[in-house]
Amino acid sequence: MRTQVAIVGAGPAGLLLSHLLARGGVSSVVVETRSQEYVGSRIRAGLLEHSSVELLTSVGLGARLRAAGQEHRGIYLQWPGERRHLDFVDLTGRSVWVYGQTEVQKDLVAAGTAEVYYNVAETALHDIETDRPSVTFVDEHGVSRQIEADAIAGCDGSFGPSRDAAPAESFERTYPYSWLGILADVAPSTDELIYAWHPNGFALHSMRSATLSRLYLQVPNGTDPGAWSDGRIWDELALRLGHGQDGWKLTPGPITDKSVLPMRSYVRTPMRHGRLFLAGDAAHIVPPTGAKGLNLAIADVALLSRALIALLDAGDERLADGYSDDALRRVWRSTHFSWWMTTMLHTGGDPFDAQLQLSQLKWVTSSQAGATGLAENYAGLAIGY
Ligand code: PHB
Repeated sequence: MRTQVAIVGAGPAGLLLSHLLARGGVSSVVVETRSQEYVGSRIRAGLLEHSSVELLTSVGLGARLRAAGQEHRGIYLQWPGERRHLDFVDLTGRSVWVYGQTEVQKDLVAAGTAEVYYNVAETALHDIETDRPSVTFVDEHGVSRQIEADAIAGCDGSFGPSRDAAPAESFERTYPYSWLGILADVAPSTDELIYAWHPNGFALHSMRSATLSRLYLQVPNGTDPGAWSDGRIWDELALRLGHGQDGWKLTPGPITDKSVLPMRSYVRTPMRHGRLFLAGDAAHIVPPTGAKGLNLAIADVALLSRALIALLDAGDERLADGYSDDALRRVWRSTHFSWWMTTMLHTGGDPFDAQLQLSQLKWVTSSQAGATGLAENYAGLAIGY
């Protein structure tokens, strides 16, 4: 097969890149090791930044988002006895939207732009240092195939073959705690997301829709989700989220999914080697606090699509040459922000650390400068920040 861009990975980064390239007249073929059902049903992040919503809308992917998603003005930050609202719209003129990654994925599949080979095996990248790189794989019928391309986009996450196909420098931080996440068939007990500091550990009340709640508890690394009964989860959530919040109640409901998420920061640089360009989790992982992962992937492919269209249509190499540095500016900003939110809200340090965390929480919720800084990073980064 011959195409202009071979894309490895059919998650949101790969499918959105294919969609953006097609709009610019550049052809692509996508290969994915998983099934379409698996990729479309895995539960991931659920929050889109202003710039992500603008981008999706501008390329014809915003209709269901705007009809079914929920626009939020801000978040609550709380600690025992206090719950403070930060209004991102007042602070930065920008809102965020609750809309699950699963829904973004459905919209991309429904757009039908990408030509995808699902269930492939033995994916390998070749000749990335030349201007005729290729991807080989075995398709779901056992047939060996080769895609000859002008460029390869590695959108295959932190376990795919792209990320190790080129020499790179890695920067990494693992955190000494994980999140136990649940999805529950119950109306959210809050109008905005609640990020809660508690001596027992962090808790987050998020949501997916008017009838679907998503909540998280900080738990020790290595926690077995099976060790947490539904009753124990709701009791601990009610304790951490309700501590000192007079008159507020958490409504429990049937739990339909329960899983443990490790927390890690990871950046691999550069994001380009020859004709291989990395985007999304193949190049960087952020801990979930602050919901940056999907937004970073969207920003990466927005920059990458422009660079590849200029390179392959007009022979203009400037954006491609700048891609890694351009993308990494936002990646490092979001890496810092998610590390900062994570370390401000998770307990486990000594009493001195706890006092610093509480002081920081009080400052960002009472100082205009502190609140604006948080809001700008949470809601307000431009795609090409
Ligand atoms: C989520 O809804 O899954 C979510 C929202 C906000 C976060 C992290 C996760 O900071």
